[in-house]
Amino acid sequence: MTILLLGYMASGKSSVSKLLGKELGLSVLDLDDYIERKEEKTIREIFETKGEIYFRTKEHAYLKEILETKEAMIISLGGGTPCYANNMNLIHEYTKHTFYLQTSIPEIINRVKDEKAKRPLISAIADEDLPEFIGKHLFERNAFYQQATHRILTDKKSVEELVQEIEALLN
Ligand code: S3P
Repeated sequence: MTILLLGYMASGKSSVSKLLGKELGLSVLDLDDYIERKEEKTIREIFETKGEIYFRTKEHAYLKEILETKEAMIISLGGGTPCYANNMNLIHEYTKHTFYLQTSIPEIINRVKDEKAKRPLISAIADEDLPEFIGKHLFERNAFYQQATHRILTDKKSVEELVQEIEALLN
């Protein structure tokens, strides 16, 4: 079984996928980490030296490479992965176990404001402009995120609770 977690930056995809992987005995693959290993650069360096279009092209190619292995695993996507290169259609050719971790704007701001430096899309946005930027960004991305089979609200929930919710939906 291939399970995919998607959602905006800081929605908890990585931590939820790690615990879910332990619970289900499945390996976990973080698409950003995979891209960094393959490209031998951090995501930030890729954005800085090659630009976003290059990143999106590679993101799509590596996602396809991973899905084509058809290995049972949990894949944690990057925040923008569902929104480019027809990636949601590609994903649904391989699995219907897709979960959108939906986090509110205030909660996202809380989580990202101290770690903007490692997030190229928001590193140059002033703290006071984050609500408007993230609000607009989520609005644009919503149509893609909503293509996930399941939607899980994450605010005020622990990683354990989120994993339980996902497991219940898988049964
Ligand atoms: C991005 C989110 C990041 C990473 C890249 C672009 C986005 O992943 O893929 O910086 O477009 O939202 P995380 O959601 O894991 O931070």
